Amino acid sequence: VPENRKAILDVLKGTTPEHVPIWLMRQAGRYLPEYKKLRAEAGSFLDLCLTPQWATEITLQPIRRFDFDAAILFADILLIPYALGQKLDFREGEGPVLETVKNENDLDRLNYHQEKLSPVFETVRRVRKDLPNKTTFIGFCGSMWTVACYMIDGNSQNNFTQAKRWAKEKPLQLQKLIDILSDTSFQYLSGQIDAGAEVIQLFDSWAGLLEGDLFDRWVSEPTRKFVSRLKEKYPHIPVIGFPRGARNKYRDYILQTGVDGLSIDPDVDVNYAKTQLQKVKPLQGNLNPALLVKGGEDMKKATEKILGTLGFKHIFNLGHGVTPDVPLEHIAALVKIVRNWKSG
Ligand code: CP3
Repeated sequence: VPENRKAILDVLKGTTPEHVPIWLMRQAGRYLPEYKKLRAEAGSFLDLCLTPQWATEITLQPIRRFDFDAAILFADILLIPYALGQKLDFREGEGPVLETVKNENDLDRLNYHQEKLSPVFETVRRVRKDLPNKTTFIGFCGSMWTVACYMIDGNSQNNFTQAKRWAKEKPLQLQKLIDILSDTSFQYLSGQIDAGAEVIQLFDSWAGLLEGDLFDRWVSEPTRKFVSRLKEKYPHIPVIGFPRGARNKYRDYILQTGVDGLSIDPDVDVNYAKTQLQKVKPLQGNLNPALLVKGGEDMKKATEKILGTLGFKHIFNLGHGVTPDVPLEHIAALVKIVRNWKSG
């Protein structure tokens, strides 16, 4: 196997890889003792993200320990609201809290300063330099709808009631915010790609809050425009979309948005995934994060079911992020199962 073949790029470009590649969403984080140590030293999560020395180290920690096929940039989807001037705070055990955007006036006051994010691009350059050739480097941002949810409601405590209200009752106002996010995220991802990111993942964690026409209008359509803009500038960079919780809209999403790969949550039936989604594009994900906590035979059976059904046109991953309570041995065991799997 030539050292510089990247299994993840193979899958996304429609070539059969040497092995089924694996990485895990939130692979850098609180389940790792070496992360917790740096996190305590840094004091604030935002400082961790914006200090290249720390962010580089944290990006590489899971690669050293588990030799995943991809590294994902250590950053956060809420860095865009931060660069737009919104106050952002990550509180211990409570998650992120943002100052809320309430009306047109608040939208007019948003002012994007990409230089606030220049440490992120420095992190990308450093990681790319230190990464093994076979390891793919994934950059990311949040999708417009999901970032808008946090900007409008400030946190996830009220299930994004206000954001859903904007979607139904204030479409012009929401469109204005979506347009701002589209422009700024495009500049931000351009910075990541220019610095060395090889694949982009769009996290739409709250896509599942919308159904029917509202999903089309605020998830699929902005994503389609955004992907086509990225493709125009960077035709060679594959894009993975993750509209978490999209249920029966996953198929519309994959048909309409132009993404190169689709990340699926644990609620998607694996046989449906094979016949209705993988026929269209390569897939990623699906394993329930709770099974990684459980480990043992249950994890093994579920993993082999996914491997046996989705085969080599799949990037193995969880259906959502690694939780902080995962035993490290379970991850090592999972990587081994996936790496050694050969199609029957
Ligand atoms: O390893 C990686 O996946 C790369 C880094 C990464 C983080 N956040 C680091 C992080 C990525 C890709 C994200 C994406 C992200 N951030 C999403 C989309 C994916 C998803 O989980 O649905 C969302 C919605 C956010 C916003 C966010 N950031 C939340 C809701 C939280 C709190 C929840 C939690 O797990 O603490 C964060 C904080 C955050 N982002 C942490 C990490 C490692 C934990 C910070 C800490 O150490 O306290």
